[in-house]
Amino acid sequence: MQLFVEHLEVSNFRVIENLSFEPNSSGVTSIVGRNGHGKSSIIEALSFAISGKSFRSAPKESLIRRGSNESLIRVQVITNEERALSLDSLITRSGQDKLRLNTNAVSRREVFRTIPLTAFSVTDIEIVSSSPQLRRDYMDSALVLLGVKAAESVDNYEKLLRHRTSLLKSIQRSGDFDSFDYLEVFDERLAEEGERVVTFRMNFLARIESRLEEMYQEIAGTGHSVRLGYSRSSDDLYRDLKVCRSDDIRKGSTGVGPHRDDLLLYLNGLNARYEASQGEQRTLAFALKMALHRLILDRSGDSPILLLDDIFSELDEVRIESLLDGFDSTQCIVTTSIDHKLLASVGPVFHIENGSIH
Ligand SMILES: Nc1ncnc2c1ncn2[C@@H]1O[C@H](COP(=O)(O)OP(=O)(O)OP(=O)(O)O)[C@@H](O)[C@H]1O
Ligand SMILES: [Mg+2]
Repeated sequence: MQLFVEHLEVSNFRVIENLSFEPNSSGVTSIVGRNGHGKSSIIEALSFAISGKSFRSAPKESLIRRGSNESLIRVQVITNEERALSLDSLITRSGQDKLRLNTNAVSRREVFRTIPLTAFSVTDIEIVSSSPQLRRDYMDSALVLLGVKAAESVDNYEKLLRHRTSLLKSIQRSGDFDSFDYLEVFDERLAEEGERVVTFRMNFLARIESRLEEMYQEIAGTGHSVRLGYSRSSDDLYRDLKVCRSDDIRKGSTGVGPHRDDLLLYLNGLNARYEASQGEQRTLAFALKMALHRLILDRSGDSPILLLDDIFSELDEVRIESLLDGFDSTQCIVTTSIDHKLLASVGPVFHIENGSIH
């Protein structure tokens, strides 16, 4: 059996005051509703509780329903070993958020590793079109899902980098040269971990590239080529950390390393970030997510939960049908404002109105 969400309870999250929802354990469950009635909110609540990611770059407080001080998302999950998990995610205006898995405090990353999830919304087009941060996040969340060692490297690198930032700032304030020596030792470790992260990312890209092209062609038709590239901010991290040290102290941040690298996407030989059309960027963004989804499925046999927010409005019936056919054992929650007849033939259809589901 595949991992699935058994029950979802959302209170005071965006337009939703109180909502309780039980999707099918496998296959497609649809949520249909008019614009502004809470379709994205329900997907976002689930996605936020598990991955900590919101669909928009708006401040987290804006997720809390107007007039409330806190929002609670409660997710009951059954794992593929038939273990019941209970996840509580509390968002507060005071910033004292809580995340508990079976009543124990946990990190988002731990939750994401325990409950793998693929979420896609229309705003995901930004993964192709916007600054490198989202593309790095894509690679790193893949590493977190794909292996413990890679996930540890990402964690370690981020910790070391934060530590270096505070060190740089303290040297900047005090001109303390003892710390400058300490930076020498420190940079060796940072460079080592950074090189590891780069290698993990590049290996991942090599594994995902053909699946990505395949996925793109499934949606857009054959005859398109998709290639990936990795752009490094430094090809010798230890050397460049040393070279940039004075500059970094002045700026209070580290100028080179995987946190400054980028994933390059080429569609039919052109850099998709700058040259692809909007429709091509949207398709590529979707293909990126789905390629990772398939990679995880092929690798472990475990399918991440799939959340698709409002993607059908862009597709014709034939494409919707072929897409829906592929999700037989995966739990897939889809939202749409158009009540396609097809949806009722593949699974239950719920209606959402003013943040309530029925
Ligand atoms: N913090 C908040 N408190 C109360 N309402 C909010 C809050 N944030 C957003 N909303 C409202 O939530 C409503 C539902 O938004 P949501 O994005 O879930 O709708 P939707 O069903 O996905 O619509 P669409 O079909 O247009 O994508 C919007 O009308 C918005 O004004
Ligand atoms: Mg929406």
